[in-house]
Amino acid sequence: MKEDIHGGNLYRAARERGCRPSDLVDFSASINPLGPSLSVLRALRKSQWMLRHYPDPEAHDLVQALSRRSGLTPAHYLIGNGSMELLYLLPIALSITKALIIGPTFSEYERAVHRAGGHCTHVSASRADDYRPPIEEALDLMRTGKGRFDTVFLCNPNNPTGRVIGKGDLLKLVAALGDGHIWTIVDESFIEFAPEHSMLQEVSKHPRLLVLRSFTKFYAIPGLRIGYLAGQPDVVEQVRRRQPPWSVNVLAQAAALAGLKDTAYRKKTLALISDERTRLGRALREIPDLQVFPSEANFLLIELPASLRASDVAERLRDRGLLVRDCSTIAGLTERMVRVAIRTPRENDLLLRAIEAALHG
Ligand SMILES: Cc1ncc(COP(=O)(O)O)c(C=O)c1O
Repeated sequence: MKEDIHGGNLYRAARERGCRPSDLVDFSASINPLGPSLSVLRALRKSQWMLRHYPDPEAHDLVQALSRRSGLTPAHYLIGNGSMELLYLLPIALSITKALIIGPTFSEYERAVHRAGGHCTHVSASRADDYRPPIEEALDLMRTGKGRFDTVFLCNPNNPTGRVIGKGDLLKLVAALGDGHIWTIVDESFIEFAPEHSMLQEVSKHPRLLVLRSFTKFYAIPGLRIGYLAGQPDVVEQVRRRQPPWSVNVLAQAAALAGLKDTAYRKKTLALISDERTRLGRALREIPDLQVFPSEANFLLIELPASLRASDVAERLRDRGLLVRDCSTIAGLTERMVRVAIRTPRENDLLLRAIEAALHG
């Protein structure tokens, strides 16, 4: 497994550049560029007095709100310290040792399985196919490799390609895997951008299906750490038993609850990202020798011209105060791949100009 560095390490970039984190524009982590909504900030202020108490270990109010929205019962949910905490608990709680990962994708699935002593196989989308998720290939592998896998990990929409697996394909996959008692773990950290393909409500019908969700990206609160797992109550309970007590702090619970209720912020975000993804994508595609792949999420995967390496271009952009995600460390991608978040019009214009300059040395 290649050594991976995530996007969003603003602190290190600022130290290396001798500036403050706030002097940088972060395109390397795909966070809502509107920042936390006013309702979230208000909820944070209002819940300050709760800091003198331990957080609610059941995150009761948040679980109730999630359950009302989905029609699942509260017992279908487990709130975690970011979806990352839950992802790392899953292989331990469910004894996952032989995972198939549908890639190229987020590197933490593999790391979490390794951490629990297991190993992973990858089935990778191809560049020639614009990184369309290789669902048929995955199904074939499951059919021919009976007993070779106990779990399939996939991310929908996929990070870092932005491609979506359609709900029809997912249902086929989950049914086939469930028959073979194989877990399907769907990471829906970016599903707000393609909600019609969510598998959340399907967890009540499929005992081997688990869905991971995050509040981090859409609600712009990565510093608070909160996400959740949805699955059948007995499975969720197995994971809960492995979770340290009071994992999810008071402020994170209050912020997530306020964010969920804020439909105006949701609408504004979706409109902004859709408009800017189209505009930025179009402008980037006009730059000669730059390949921009289709994306339904709040980021774009870009292939640089053959003469350039992602690490060099990322460094040149960093020197101008812009951080992008060098994707060359992600299994299944090449040294020429970078991912950029969709941000505000002004910031996206800055990025465009900086990329043009960086490509010309
Ligand atoms: C696909 C994906 N899943 C999960 C996570 C972890 O998110 P959280 O902040 O909820 O732990 C990330 C963070 O970058 C991600 O990109």
